[in-house]
Amino acid sequence: MAITDISSRRRFLAQGNVYLPHIAIIEKIIDETPGVRTFHFNFKDEKLREEFTFDSGQFGEYSILGIGEAPFCISSSPTRRDHLEFTTQKVGRVTNALHRLSVGAEIGFRGPYGNSFPLDFLEGKNLVFVGGGIALAPLRSLIWNVIDNRDKYKNIDVIYGARSPIDLCFKYDLDAWEKDKTVNIVTTVDRGNESWTGREGFVPQVLEQVAPSPDNAVAIVCGPPIMIRFTFPVLEKLGFTPEQIITTLEKRMKCGIGKCGRCNIGNIYVCRDGPVFTYAQIKDFISREY
Ligand code: FES
Repeated sequence: MAITDISSRRRFLAQGNVYLPHIAIIEKIIDETPGVRTFHFNFKDEKLREEFTFDSGQFGEYSILGIGEAPFCISSSPTRRDHLEFTTQKVGRVTNALHRLSVGAEIGFRGPYGNSFPLDFLEGKNLVFVGGGIALAPLRSLIWNVIDNRDKYKNIDVIYGARSPIDLCFKYDLDAWEKDKTVNIVTTVDRGNESWTGREGFVPQVLEQVAPSPDNAVAIVCGPPIMIRFTFPVLEKLGFTPEQIITTLEKRMKCGIGKCGRCNIGNIYVCRDGPVFTYAQIKDFISREY
C-alpha cells in the first residue's frame, strides 16, 4: 500500500503567496505536562471556520507575527468540528512564544499539509495504536476519528507510555478511553512514583507483553525516534508485516511544502511525501537516519 494522497485538502491553501497564513484565535489552553500545552483555536474568518476540513495525520504551520512559524500536526479529530487543536512542547523560539500566549491571542495558520492516515485501508481491521509521550498528538486525532465511526472498525488497542506519570499527555483522553468498553487501553511509564499504581516498562516491552495479534490488523505507531526504532522489530516479531505498520514522522520541517529541503530522510521529503508512511516505505533508511 502506498500512502501518497495529498490532493483532497488543497482548496484551503492560500492562493498566490503560499506562505500567507490564515488568522486564528486561541480559545483554550490546556497544560498537558510541565513543558507541553494543547491549544484550541478557531479561524477569525467565519466562512473559513465553517468550511475548513482536514484529515487525521495532516499538519499545519503555526506562526506568531515577528517571531516565526513551526509545524505541528492537527491533534484534534476532523469528526469534532467546533474547534481545532495543536499540541506543542516548549523547545525553541516559536514554541516558547506560543507558550507565552493567552486565550484570545491571534496566531497564523497555514495548511493543512501532507498526507493522512489511510482510513479506507484501516476500515474493517483491528487497530493497534502504539504511542509515546507528546507523540500521542497525531494518534489521538485518528483514535477519536475511529471512535466516532466505531462500526467501521474492529478491535481498538491503545498502548501508550511516557517517561513518568507527570509526562503522560492527554490524561482526559486516557480516562475517556479507559471508560470506553470498546477500547482496550494499556498505559505505562518508564519509571513510576509513589502514587503510580499502573504498569511500568518501556513501550516496546509492554507491546511485546500485550502481544496483539497481527491477523487482519494494522499497527499505527508514533513516538520519539528511540521508541519507534525499538517498536518496529517487536511488531515484526509479533508477525506484523512492514505493510501492516504505519507511522507518522516529524523531522526538522520548516516550509511544510517541499521547498526548503530541510525535512528529507533518505530520498523522501517528510512534508511533501508524508508525514504518514508505512514501515515498508521507510524501512531501508529509518534506522540509519531517524
Ligand atoms: S519542510 Fe521544507 S521541504 Fe519539507
